[in-house]
Amino acid sequence: MTATAFSTAALALLTLAGSASGQIGSSYCSANSNSTGGPSVISASGSTDVALNDVTLACSSLPLNAFGYFVTSQTQSFIAGPGGSSGNLCIAGNIGRYAGNIVSSGSTGAVSLVVDLTGVPAPTGSYAALPGDTLNFQFWHRDAAGGSVTSNFSPGLEITFDSAAPTFVQDVYPLLTQPNINAPECIICHGSFGGLNMGQDAASAYAALVNVASTSFNCQGSIYVVPGDFQNSLLYSKIASPNPSCGSQMPFGGTFAGDVNVIRDWIAAGAAF
Ligand code: HEC
Repeated sequence: MTATAFSTAALALLTLAGSASGQIGSSYCSANSNSTGGPSVISASGSTDVALNDVTLACSSLPLNAFGYFVTSQTQSFIAGPGGSSGNLCIAGNIGRYAGNIVSSGSTGAVSLVVDLTGVPAPTGSYAALPGDTLNFQFWHRDAAGGSVTSNFSPGLEITFDSAAPTFVQDVYPLLTQPNINAPECIICHGSFGGLNMGQDAASAYAALVNVASTSFNCQGSIYVVPGDFQNSLLYSKIASPNPSCGSQMPFGGTFAGDVNVIRDWIAAGAAF
């Protein structure tokens, strides 16, 4: 890393993370001591749920007023002293650089960066992180060793992303069993007799809804829940639409007390139990 790699025009201000969200990821690969006498520390806070797009990287125990940027790849490695660096490169393969987000460690020797999981840098553009992806990060920074300019690296940090898709038991069934506005609970009218009979527990309700076709005279043949396709799911259109494809909007005679987007997202994400 040369001094010219850091154009002053590209300098970004150091922001200190004030987030109270939890720590995510785990450190891997050893770092060499920098000019503070010890290695730097890398961490991340936020959520591993890609859909929330809430990740803040942080690196501390850096030399003061040192410029650098985070680098990322899905491949781990160990390359000692790449290109004459005093540190170790812990990633390989398609290495992306947050070169547009150069930060200074300032007077605290710490940096942080809010990363956008929908635009993870890569050599050929950027990509969106997906559930199941493991992204590895390092902070690459300038340093001075014995009076000459060098660079160093933080340890690696690996974060495996997931998706906290809504489930029927946790997110949807409670909406079907709570009182509605000017109408009773959905299961009061749909828990013991013909038409849509969701029974008296979550398992019965799930079994009555998912991939099940209506046999009622007016909605006959429509599937209550088509996993992945809320637009063709009768359960969704009966709640969301003032003019569903058959019969009246639900709850009959009243207003849904829950958030219909939860039903939409649950179906869109695959309608898990
Ligand atoms: C006051 C009783 C009542 C309540 C409460 C009620 N429904 Fe209904 N529901 C009906 C009646 C009556 C029908 C049949 C007429 C129609 O489709 O408009 C029906 C039809 C349906 C159908 C179509 C069934 C088929 O096979 O034709 C669905 C799906 C449905 N309701 C879902 C719900 C949901 C979800 C809720 C809660 C948000 C709910 N209902 C609340 C009375 C009710």
